[in-house]
Amino acid sequence: MRDRVEQKIGVVGGGLMGHGIAYLLAAAGHRVAVFEPAADIRSSLAARLRAIADLLDDDPALLQRIAAHDALAPAVHGAAFVFEAAPEKLPLKQQIFAELEQLARPDAILASNSSAIPSTAIGRHLTHRQRVIGTHFWNPPHLVPLVEVVQNEKTSDDVVRRTMELLRDAGKTPVHIRRDVPGFVGNRLQHAMKREAIALVAAGVCDAETVDIVVREGFGARTAVLGPMEQSDLVGTNLTLDIAEVLYPDLDRTPGPHPFLRDIVKAGKLGMKTGEGLRQWTPQQAEAVRTRLSRFLAEQAKARRKQQS
Ligand SMILES: NC(=O)c1ccc[n+]([C@@H]2O[C@H](COP(=O)([O-])OP(=O)(O)OC[C@H]3O[C@@H](n4cnc5c(N)ncnc54)[C@H](O)[C@@H]3O)[C@@H](O)[C@H]2O)c1
Repeated sequence: MRDRVEQKIGVVGGGLMGHGIAYLLAAAGHRVAVFEPAADIRSSLAARLRAIADLLDDDPALLQRIAAHDALAPAVHGAAFVFEAAPEKLPLKQQIFAELEQLARPDAILASNSSAIPSTAIGRHLTHRQRVIGTHFWNPPHLVPLVEVVQNEKTSDDVVRRTMELLRDAGKTPVHIRRDVPGFVGNRLQHAMKREAIALVAAGVCDAETVDIVVREGFGARTAVLGPMEQSDLVGTNLTLDIAEVLYPDLDRTPGPHPFLRDIVKAGKLGMKTGEGLRQWTPQQAEAVRTRLSRFLAEQAKARRKQQS
């Protein structure tokens, strides 16, 4: 790994994603300034960052590199990069980016962590659109390695290169997505699978728990080390084609979200937070899932760091 150059980095929004992004960049040796307008969320930032340091067995002294601000200007002043992690509302993000254009260094890269809103739309009214880019981190951003670096029609190649470099040096796995398509790559793949999973349960082929077992104990058991393209080449593209010929005509093609999912949401079955969604959850079962996930990701993250050091 190359020697890292310490830079100032601004993070806009100190919620679920913002605090994790701030942590990972501070852990990479940068000075991070977080703008968080909500007083209660701002005051809980230190404890949430401390919990990450504990989870990853890091020296909490690194948290001294993170400052919280109640205004945007001091957080982004002099920053080389600004990562926006504010609520998923287009007018709000457009307003933030308009302010960033005024407040940030002229050469600062302005990155949005939006899950679904194209950065093309977020930066539409700016004068210097070549520095606007999508950086789609996955939750929790300090544990999941991937960041989709999404180039929009105006983003310069140099901005893509500098963003990839910063993230790679911070130990992430950035990938260059060449077009600003909805859902980028990861969410398109994830939701293509969910679409079929929901249709199978709706048709009574199996229950929701069985879907989870099939994925976790079946192809999911190898997915972390074998991507779908590698897997297709491993078994042979001819076999992949033979299966596609039989299967694709039978896969779900409901236009839009499946009525089964719409009905569940309409009935107020919103998942673990209401005790029922696609499956039923006691508070203890929900907590067990969260703990299992967090422990698994933390162990993976620690092992990866060991390999990288
Ligand atoms: N939660 C996920 O799994 C996930 C994954 C990838 C990307 N994202 C995206 O990241 C962004 C943030 O999501 P989150 O889950 O962290 O939401 P969140 O609600 O936890 O955090 C958003 C924070 O922004 C603050 N905020 C409100 N108005 C603001 C403003 N004008 N300027 C700056 N901050 C403001 C809020 O007080 C809040 O603390 C969204 O665009 C979301 O789509 C979320």
